[in-house]
Amino acid sequence: MILPLTYYGNPVLRKKGALVESVTPELEEFIENMFETMEEYRGIGLAAQQVGRAIQLTVIDVRTAENRPSTLEIDGEEADPNSLMPLVLINPEVTPLNDPVIGPEGCLSFPEIYGDVTRPEQVRVKAMGGCGKPIEFVCGGLLARCVQHETDHLHGILFIDRMDRTSKTDELREDLELLQKETKAALE
Ligand code: NI
Repeated sequence: MILPLTYYGNPVLRKKGALVESVTPELEEFIENMFETMEEYRGIGLAAQQVGRAIQLTVIDVRTAENRPSTLEIDGEEADPNSLMPLVLINPEVTPLNDPVIGPEGCLSFPEIYGDVTRPEQVRVKAMGGCGKPIEFVCGGLLARCVQHETDHLHGILFIDRMDRTSKTDELREDLELLQKETKAALE
């Protein structure tokens, strides 16, 4: 089932997600719906807040972004990032491992809005996976950027909060204001 997306201006996007205790059948169905929704809107990551639920759960699949490479290490061994996809992260903890790099980002909650965001290039990720078991890996490139963007969502942080100053043009500010206004009007 395709779930309705929440857009900038919807207060749920600013809510810190509650920790998920266990993967229930209801949650499994919700995860499946999140993947369907992400695919429909051609995203590479989707956080629960983006479909109206403030919990620490995100789904990721970077396989469609072929021109933006990712790296992966599991137990110190290099691995194929695609082998981890599709990826479910529950209660993720992200530790930066190296220097920040600048890169372009968008977000399904901000249609047609893009900007440069500086984030660590490589991170260690500890989380509960979709089957409820702990997972741990080190990733870089696009996957690291995506994991950080989505984990931010789970804490009510949005990419515009971290956007490079040079990306924050007057035009972008106007677009954001308009989107916020439209979202609030639609919620009334
Ligand atoms: Ni986003």
